[in-house]
Amino acid sequence: MKFFIDTASLDQIAEARDLGILDGVTTNPSLMAKEGITGEANILAHYKKICDLVEGDVSAEVISTDFAGMIAEGRKLVEIAPNIVVKVPMTKDGVKAICWFTENGIRTNCTLVFSPGQAILAAKAGATYLSPFLGRIDDTTWNGIQLIEEISEIFAIQGFDTEILAASIRSAKHIVEAAKAGADIVTCPLSSILGLLNHPLTDIGLAQFLADYQKGNR
Ligand code: G3P
Repeated sequence: MKFFIDTASLDQIAEARDLGILDGVTTNPSLMAKEGITGEANILAHYKKICDLVEGDVSAEVISTDFAGMIAEGRKLVEIAPNIVVKVPMTKDGVKAICWFTENGIRTNCTLVFSPGQAILAAKAGATYLSPFLGRIDDTTWNGIQLIEEISEIFAIQGFDTEILAASIRSAKHIVEAAKAGADIVTCPLSSILGLLNHPLTDIGLAQFLADYQKGNR
């Protein structure tokens, strides 16, 4: 399973990269706004900085909602760096745009996926990645992990090669559950990735080892 970080923060991307486990980055317009990055030129320049920080794929989202606008934006985004993947929403025009990008050798991440039917459409259109939003499904009292399981089962039966990128991860527990459910990738906030490190028995065990070492080496 691959690890992506879901942020536009250069500091957080660098911290995850320095941990040695980072395979890529996902962003969206909300994450860009959170970092105070506004205006087309600044946004494109920020993507370039992200691409310079990591070798893996960087998802950059279009903000157009019509086919022609998505294509124009996507073509501009892929000029930034070879590791840019164009992030396209799961809409009718979005599906058409993913087909066009696929035919033209441009990789895509189909975002805002909330059902197995949407996942099938994205895969048929040739999306490189598709992003089911676990946390937002859990927010509605349905089950985000169940969606990953269903998509994973369908893709195994049908032999679709679109990668399942579990998104809207809110905790370390989500990461473990998404891994069990068959996600190919998890994209997470840094806090969820670091949450995987935590176990009180590790802390207690390490303190004991160090105390015993000190006793023996006085
Ligand atoms: O990858 C999608 C993600 O950024 C959405 O996360 O927590 O806003 O639902 P969240």
